[in-house]
Amino acid sequence: MGGFSARDGALHCEGVPLERIAHEAGTPAYVYSAGIIRDRYRKLDAALAGAPHRIHYSLKANACRGILGVLREAGCAVDVVSGGELYKAMQAGFKPEEILFGGVGKAERELREAIVAGVKLINVESEAELRLLSRLAVEVGNVANVGMRINPEVSVQNAHHYIATGEKGHKFGIPIDEARGVGRLALELPNISLQALDMHVGSQLHTFEAYKAGTERLVELSRELQKEGAQIRYLDAGGGLPVPYDSEEEPDLAAYGKILTSAAHSLGVELLVEPGRYFVAAAGALLSRVLYRKQSGNKTYVICDAGMTELLRPSHYDAFHRIDAVRPRKGTITADVVGPVCESGDFLALDREMGNVEPGDLLAVHTAGAYGYVMSSHYNARPRVAEVLVDGSRWAVVTARETYEDLVRLEATSPLWRDA
Ligand code: LLP
Repeated sequence: MGGFSARDGALHCEGVPLERIAHEAGTPAYVYSAGIIRDRYRKLDAALAGAPHRIHYSLKANACRGILGVLREAGCAVDVVSGGELYKAMQAGFKPEEILFGGVGKAERELREAIVAGVKLINVESEAELRLLSRLAVEVGNVANVGMRINPEVSVQNAHHYIATGEKGHKFGIPIDEARGVGRLALELPNISLQALDMHVGSQLHTFEAYKAGTERLVELSRELQKEGAQIRYLDAGGGLPVPYDSEEEPDLAAYGKILTSAAHSLGVELLVEPGRYFVAAAGALLSRVLYRKQSGNKTYVICDAGMTELLRPSHYDAFHRIDAVRPRKGTITADVVGPVCESGDFLALDREMGNVEPGDLLAVHTAGAYGYVMSSHYNARPRVAEVLVDGSRWAVVTARETYEDLVRLEATSPLWRDA
């Protein structure tokens, strides 16, 4: 099954000591367990067995090619939200018919790329986008397979309001009371084939009421549109499966599966889901080295070589990530674990009770595989870190650490001025 566990006094990822990876690949580095990803794919696939279904991994959570390879081999398809993600998915070997293309602000160029590629579905989020898509599809000479992303306007309980997306007034999706009209339009517009209704009500959803209420609304709408001649083939329930970061429970996959498969079943359509975090969060740890320890006032600071540039979630969402010393010492401390970036908001943990650590020690910041590397930045001219994939007793650097040259590669050394 894989994962992170202690052996001979030090943390390993599957069969590989994290100390070995740090020594050879350097720090900071993201380390991923292939075993966890495969295991989670199998479990979710089994939970959805009650209806014909396809799992489309949401690339935005982690678009590392090594990870995409693991999921593709397991039988997974993908969900992308930009031309860049579409490119990455195709580079990783996914076929157009395995790709869903979503996103609230797709540019003309991106829509055209998706039409030309012939992706399985383009999930549109407004009437204006639908009209543009039709025009582009006519220009290109292809039919665009369309899903309508509906905002079902259900209330959502999740960790942070930045990641709730399906409540009234949110920027995402077609408001439910306009959906019928937009659906009718989709049936009339040239080169548009309306095939799916879609929702994504939020991320890290610990209770499933929003899935239930949302899919009920989609089922109702689908029935109305079917009466008007629509041939709906798919019900796309989006992502949002939660993972435990601290002491929460793992989600009840059977309950989740039941809600979604019965909705699809009642319509006689195929179920699509777009989980991101669920597959990769627990599969990844950010490996970082402690540089210094210092006191300021009555606070203890553990200053390490990774911070908000590598893992933004703590400072951006106040997110909790468990932090362990790779080789634990005796005793505990209460400390702020911070990075080297010149901002007081640069932290990995605040007032954290943790194992005692000293400069030179390695830390594993857990549950960092989702929305970690993909949200990293070059702030303070920090090169992006390496990504390492572990599979049993083997490991490989699947994304090289950037170099200083990478930081200036796209910059003009002497500008080529043009006249106005
Ligand atoms: N489908 C759509 C349309 C989405 O917007 C998202 C995530 C997903 C699927 C995948 O959701 P998941 O299964 O991973 O919850 N950066 C934030 C999370 C933002 C999620 C955005 N949308 C974080 O670090 O928590």
